[in-house]
Amino acid sequence: MSSINELKALFREKFGYDDKIEIYAAPGRVNLIGEHVDYCGGPVLPAALTVGTTLLARKRNDNILRLMATDLDVTVEAPLDDLEKFKGTLKWGEYTLGVAFEMLKAGFKFCGYDMLYHDTVPHGAGLSSSAAVELSTAICFAAGAEADIKSPRLLTELALISQKAEHNYIGVNCGIMDQFASAMGKKDNAVYLNCATLEHEYVPLKLGDYKLVIANSNKKHALGDSKYNERREECSEAFETLKKVMPDITCLADVTCADVSEYSELFKNATIKNRAAHVASECERVHKFVEALKNGDLSTAGKLMNESHISLRDNFEVSCDELDILAGSASRYSGVLGSRMIGAGFGGSVLSIVHKDRVDEFISDIGQEYSGKTNLKADFYISEIGDGAREL
Ligand code: GLA
Repeated sequence: MSSINELKALFREKFGYDDKIEIYAAPGRVNLIGEHVDYCGGPVLPAALTVGTTLLARKRNDNILRLMATDLDVTVEAPLDDLEKFKGTLKWGEYTLGVAFEMLKAGFKFCGYDMLYHDTVPHGAGLSSSAAVELSTAICFAAGAEADIKSPRLLTELALISQKAEHNYIGVNCGIMDQFASAMGKKDNAVYLNCATLEHEYVPLKLGDYKLVIANSNKKHALGDSKYNERREECSEAFETLKKVMPDITCLADVTCADVSEYSELFKNATIKNRAAHVASECERVHKFVEALKNGDLSTAGKLMNESHISLRDNFEVSCDELDILAGSASRYSGVLGSRMIGAGFGGSVLSIVHKDRVDEFISDIGQEYSGKTNLKADFYISEIGDGAREL
């Protein structure tokens, strides 16, 4: 990663000065378990990564946002009072404009900025590079509005605003998991988050002799956003169906696997029933995973990851051949406790719990097997768990 001084030099090169620069950082996230349940009010267990977005920003005397990125040859200029017109028109920069748009709506008052983005999370890898951009932007504007950017309450609000930016500006009806993890992550801890209430608990990630290894399939998720929104609608439909016979439920995550079986005849078709079955079983797995983690029982945690993958593949249908190949080979590999796809799916990454003495061979063997079967090259990372959004 480039050092802060290198980034400052780059800022000077791009914008012509480097005084009064403020620097903010927000991480990507890895989700240990609890996939496609956040928008159903379920529990999730993400952890913030040490990679993410570093944002160098400098206040301007006007209301223009001028955006650049270290890895792109692009400049976006947008006035704060006319952000809506850029919606859907840009190849890059919409996350920033969407966050600015929603923060202004929420009453934050801030001026224009020159902003240079430096991303170290690979895009499209299921590691929430977009949440990292959103949260680094949101804390920058919040600091500009003189809010206390260390306050958990404000960080939670910024996560919710960033989620709104995704819904209203980007057009993805995402849940709250990624933005919450990026805002509130804590070094060496996972965040056990109830997505219905936003109550959360930090669970120390004591992995002993094991490492969390991410394999990025480098398969670009085609149609990911539209399929994502479709899954959300299917879950709403499952909820509406069950609500008729279970009036006390407030979200699909309130439903157990036994409920799904009992009322299986009521669903419009097998697809909707399978979506509900995934959500109910995944929520149960998250609670069991947390218990296993607290008891130091990583082998149970690993088994739950394998089950999660199968449910995402067969019941929720958000996996793809590339992810199945990676997760399949990884879960059979000696020294691996469990493996599953992470994030929205249709491409992206697979997470595995791997014994530290096997990591190098794992990367080389699984990498080779994967290229042999797909003609794609996977990238591997050993996850380190870091802090949430902050000023540097
Ligand atoms: C994406 C979304 C999250 C969550 C995951 C799937 O990362 O942004 O809200 O729904 O997919 O678990």
